[in-house]
Amino acid sequence: MKQIILLNILAVCLLATSCGQSVERPVQEVIDQALNLAEKQALGMALKYAGDNEALPRSFAGGKDIGSDSQWWCSGFFPGLLWYLYENDPKPELLDYAVEYTSRIAQEQYNTRTHDLGFMLYCSFGNAFRLTRDTACLRVLLTGATSLATRYNPAIGLIRSWDHTNGGQWQYPVIIDNMMNLELLFHAARESGDRRYYDISVSHADKTMEQHFRPDYSSYHVVSYDSITGLPHAKQTHQGYADESAWARGQAWGLYGYTVAYRETQDVRYLKQAKHIAGFLLSHPNMPDDYIPYWDLNAPGIPGELRDASAAAIICSALIELSGYVDEALATQYLNVAEKQIRTLASPEYTAAPGENGNFILMHSVGHLPGGSEVDVPLTYADYYYVEALMRYKKLLAGT
Ligand code: GLY
Repeated sequence: MKQIILLNILAVCLLATSCGQSVERPVQEVIDQALNLAEKQALGMALKYAGDNEALPRSFAGGKDIGSDSQWWCSGFFPGLLWYLYENDPKPELLDYAVEYTSRIAQEQYNTRTHDLGFMLYCSFGNAFRLTRDTACLRVLLTGATSLATRYNPAIGLIRSWDHTNGGQWQYPVIIDNMMNLELLFHAARESGDRRYYDISVSHADKTMEQHFRPDYSSYHVVSYDSITGLPHAKQTHQGYADESAWARGQAWGLYGYTVAYRETQDVRYLKQAKHIAGFLLSHPNMPDDYIPYWDLNAPGIPGELRDASAAAIICSALIELSGYVDEALATQYLNVAEKQIRTLASPEYTAAPGENGNFILMHSVGHLPGGSEVDVPLTYADYYYVEALMRYKKLLAGT
C-alpha cells in the first residue's frame, strides 16, 4: 500500500508539471542530496571533537562551537546521527566515529538522576545494537533500562522526569518529553524477557494520556503529581509560551511517543491518540503551509515568531512511521506533509552550506525560548530526527 500511496503523490507532482506549474525535483533526489550533505557535515563535526574523548557536540552560536559532556540530555543524538549515516553509507570512517562517539556516553547507563536515558542511550547504543547486534551494546541498553526504571513510582504509575521541584512548586514532575524514553524500556522488555519494563511503559503511557492532554489533544508540558494521592496538582509549561499553550516540540514528542507506544504494544488506544495529536497539529490554524511549526503554536507574535526546525523534524519522522499504521487517505496526508517538511528543511532556508553552521545540518531550532537558551540555533536533536526522517522516507521509497 505504501508504494501505491507514494506513486499517487508522484502522479500529482507529474500532473502539476504537465499543467505548467513549477517543477519539483523528485523527492528521492532531494533525500539523497540531503543525506550526502549530512554526511559531510557530520564527518566535519566528528573530526572537530575527536581530540577530547569526553566531548560531544551540543550547538553552535555566535560563531562558537558549544559542546557538552555525556550527562547532557542530548549526548546520544550525535552518535545516533553517525549510526544513521553509516547505515546509509557504510564507510569505515563513519563506523569508527559512530563507535567512538557512542563509547563516550557509556557511563550514563548507571545514571539514575535523569529520565532522559531513553534519548541518551537508545538513540546511540540502540542504533548501534540495531545495526551491529553487538551484545556489549545490548548490555549497556539493559543496564540503562534498569537505571531508568528506578525512577518509576508504582504508587503514582509514572516515571519521574525531574528531581528538582521548581522551588517547591512541584512534588512529582512529569513532562510530555518523557514519552520518548519508553522506547528504551519496551526494547529492554523484548530483549530481556522481563515484563516489568513493558508494564512500566504501559502505565506511564496510560497515565500520560489521561492527564497530560486537553480535549483538543494538545498537551501540557509539565504535569506534577501529588506524591500522596497520585493525582495531578499542577499543569504548567516550562519551555512553552504559557501553561495553556501548545509548545511545538512538546506536541512533537507526544506524537512520536504514542506512535512508538502503538508499534510496541499494538494497543489501538495509542494509535488513536497518535492520530488525534497528528490531527491537532496538521489542522492547527497557526500551522504554516510548509509545516515547520512556530516554536509554540500559540506564541503571541505569530507570524513574526521563530519557527522550530527541531519540532518539524520530530513530527516528520513520526508521521512517516505513523503513515504505516493508518488507512490510505490518512497515510497520503501524512506522507504529503512529511515530504513538504523534508523539502523545506532540505532547502537553503534551513540547511546550512557545507562547513558552515558549526557543521550542524539544520539551522533555526528553538531550545528554551522563555529561558533565553538555545534560541534560533542548530541543535543535535533537530539533525538526528531529520536524518532519521530522511532514512525512513528513503526506505519507504525503496519499499524496504
Ligand atoms: N526537554 C527536552 C526538550 O527541550 O525538548
